[in-house]
Amino acid sequence: MSDTSSAASTAAATLKSLPTDMELVLKVIPMPADCNANGDIFGGWVMAQCDLAGSVIPARYAKGRQATVAVNEFIFKQPVRLGDILSFYSKLVRIGRTSVTVTVEVFAERFRAQGEYIKVTQATFTYVAIDDNGRPRPIEKPDA
Ligand SMILES: CC(C)(COP(=O)(O)OP(=O)(O)OC[C@H]1O[C@@H](n2cnc3c(N)ncnc32)[C@H](O)[C@@H]1OP(=O)(O)O)[C@@H](O)C(=O)NCCC(=O)NCCS
Repeated sequence: MSDTSSAASTAAATLKSLPTDMELVLKVIPMPADCNANGDIFGGWVMAQCDLAGSVIPARYAKGRQATVAVNEFIFKQPVRLGDILSFYSKLVRIGRTSVTVTVEVFAERFRAQGEYIKVTQATFTYVAIDDNGRPRPIEKPDA
């Protein structure tokens, strides 16, 4: 981690609060093993955490085995730094016949500036309920 890196000089809008229209589904602090060669957090690590976070709401509807079928959008808006406290928020977008689509937004609190939040990542994922043979399985609609 270096304050002279180009990533460190990227301007980021600082927020004073976290979303109220999304659900907090995961909080995690990245460790040194999660860094890339620049000392920032490796994008693949962030993607894996987002996939886990995104699966929480769909699991409520799938009520069983499910698989990630698509990452419809993934934007790394700001770098994630070692020691950041990451909050993953998620919201339902669509319930299909066998699939559920959600958005995930990730907010970082820099370790020395807690209470100030920077949106670092946003993504959209689709999960499919699957049966024992790994084939798509109809999901129960909440109002059914
Ligand atoms: C998930 C899987 C079972 C779906 O099988 P499939 O034959 O493609 O299924 P279908 O074409 O019937 O699509 C199933 C649902 O996924 C949706 N879907 C498929 N491809 C999609 C895509 N690219 N983007 C968004 N949704 C998609 C379909 O719209 C459908 O949703 P609906 O029933 O709610 O309308 C199969 O693709 C699979 O096993 N993929 C690997 C999953 C995996 O291993 N994930 C982890 C990656 S390491």
